[in-house]
Amino acid sequence: MAYENGIFGCRGVGISFGGRAILRDVSLAVAPGEVLGLVGPNGAGKTSLFEILCGRYTASAGEVFLKDQDITRRAVHDRARLGLARTYQSPVVPQALTIAETFRAARYAYSPYKTRMEAEWACHLANFRQSWDRIAGSLDTFDRRKLLLACLLMRRPAVLLLDEPASGLINSEIDELDLIIRRLVDEYHIAAILIEHRLELLSAIADRTVVLDMGEVIATGTPQEVFRNPRVLAAYFEEPAHG
Ligand SMILES: Nc1ncnc2c1ncn2[C@@H]1O[C@H](COP(=O)(O)OP(=O)(O)O)[C@@H](O)[C@H]1O
Ligand SMILES: [Mg+2]
Repeated sequence: MAYENGIFGCRGVGISFGGRAILRDVSLAVAPGEVLGLVGPNGAGKTSLFEILCGRYTASAGEVFLKDQDITRRAVHDRARLGLARTYQSPVVPQALTIAETFRAARYAYSPYKTRMEAEWACHLANFRQSWDRIAGSLDTFDRRKLLLACLLMRRPAVLLLDEPASGLINSEIDELDLIIRRLVDEYHIAAILIEHRLELLSAIADRTVVLDMGEVIATGTPQEVFRNPRVLAAYFEEPAHG
């Protein structure tokens, strides 16, 4: 596998809940300047894999690596300090704080504190253009995502894990999101793993795609390659096989 080229990834990861295997022998790696699409039907295990990668779940098997280090046993905040950043499926922002207060809280959450200038720079990178007097809870889905992304970008992460960042967005917003991600990857050489359950959305943004189905990697390749893969089409469009 591409362990050597990858700055971040995992090898042989497995996890079970209540005796049911949710992930089995999952390996993937992403390189700086690359967008890796992680795709698969709902319930395939994509978010669970992110939980393991970022350290909120402990895998029962396998390893997670970052910059040549085995980080399998590292805590979430340790991984963050090493350059790992992650977003969640639902963009939860502080309901009652202004955007300025949200940034202040985010700046002071890091050590050493991030400056206001670094927050402004991150807003620029995330295309976040709202007035800082606004209440964060009044933002729409896309602006919430941009705000949370800007809070992460202040830290200048090396690796960005994005869980369904396009969900709830309209087409023109998805195009803008693709441009934002592309710029982070091309100009700042961030390694990005992007979860999306709609295969077709990945063709515009992903350099490479890993397809997960029922907890297992069933295909890897360019979006065009996996799109034609019979196993992938079956996972998406067929009823589960009988017998
Ligand atoms: N903490 C948990 N406890 C029990 N089951 C879980 C837990 N997290 C996820 N699952 C189960 O794991 C499977 C994969 O879920 P998930 O990783 O959210 O899939 P995806 O993100 O691909 O839609 C689902 O069947 C889900 O119910
Ligand atoms: Mg999910």
